[in-house]
Amino acid sequence: MKNYTHINDIDNINSWIEEAKALKKNPLQDIELGKNKTLALLFFNASLRTRLSTQKAALNLGMDTIVMNVSGDAWGIEFEDGTVMNGTTAEHVKEAAAVVSQYCDVIAIRAFPTLTDKERDKNEVVLNSFIKYASVPIVNMESATSHPLQGFTDAISISENKTKKKPKVVLSWAPHIKALPHAVGNSFVQAMQKMDVEFVIANPEGYNLDPKITKETPIYHNQEEALKDADFVYAKNWSSYDEYGKVLKTDLDWMITNKKIGDAKFMHCLPVRRNVVVADEVLDGENSLVIEQSNNRTFAAQLVLKKILENL
Ligand code: CP
Repeated sequence: MKNYTHINDIDNINSWIEEAKALKKNPLQDIELGKNKTLALLFFNASLRTRLSTQKAALNLGMDTIVMNVSGDAWGIEFEDGTVMNGTTAEHVKEAAAVVSQYCDVIAIRAFPTLTDKERDKNEVVLNSFIKYASVPIVNMESATSHPLQGFTDAISISENKTKKKPKVVLSWAPHIKALPHAVGNSFVQAMQKMDVEFVIANPEGYNLDPKITKETPIYHNQEEALKDADFVYAKNWSSYDEYGKVLKTDLDWMITNKKIGDAKFMHCLPVRRNVVVADEVLDGENSLVIEQSNNRTFAAQLVLKKILENL
């Protein structure tokens, strides 16, 4: 595999899940594979899980890691071609990506959307610029429109916890005070579309995700109806896609509670705002998978890096 930037880079999700489970059982089995190889992790935005689990994955493969908070610590990077750079940006991505490629064997990037410029976000300007100008493989640690390390992690977590062949999985929008990206929701949808699950989405009117991503997946605007007989409930907030980046609703009537989900397993990518997105009782209850999901981030990233290293 050259790059891992999208759930569609997974050629066979079931075999990938089994390979990731094998790594989880024996995390150091490939400790020699990454010897003398370096992973650069470039963060344009904040992170806890992605930052630490991707480093841990690299360490499990014997790689060295270099981490940089690009926003703040590096020179402001220009992404437009032909710009007269007499403003706030001091270095073009053409040079930045080429230079980092000389220091590292793989580059991982986190760059969130603007949520104000839909075309720029759809075009994945930051991620695609690095793919274009870097000479080493690129891993997406959450871009404007997708979070494929999280989506793959979530598929592993469902596979590990399912008690029936074809469980019902519900992705439910939940409230939040801020405008959040669509990336986690998008990649979860795309991962579930590859799995043998009964999958539905619940979101209020005005919050449908990009129809090019949801495709034929059923969308309910009645949360109670969608949650009926659910085996897994994945909660996530996202801002409006149609009224791009807008927060249309902040009241708590879509917050996840025990009464709503019954015996279903609860999932969230974290970080999560307690008693806004989901009630304490759910997160503190025995059906919450959120800590286990975070653990699986390491093995999802480790499998991705392993496949890239094997192809270097
Ligand atoms: N779920 C996730 O990507 O967490 P971080 O934003 O903390 O990396």
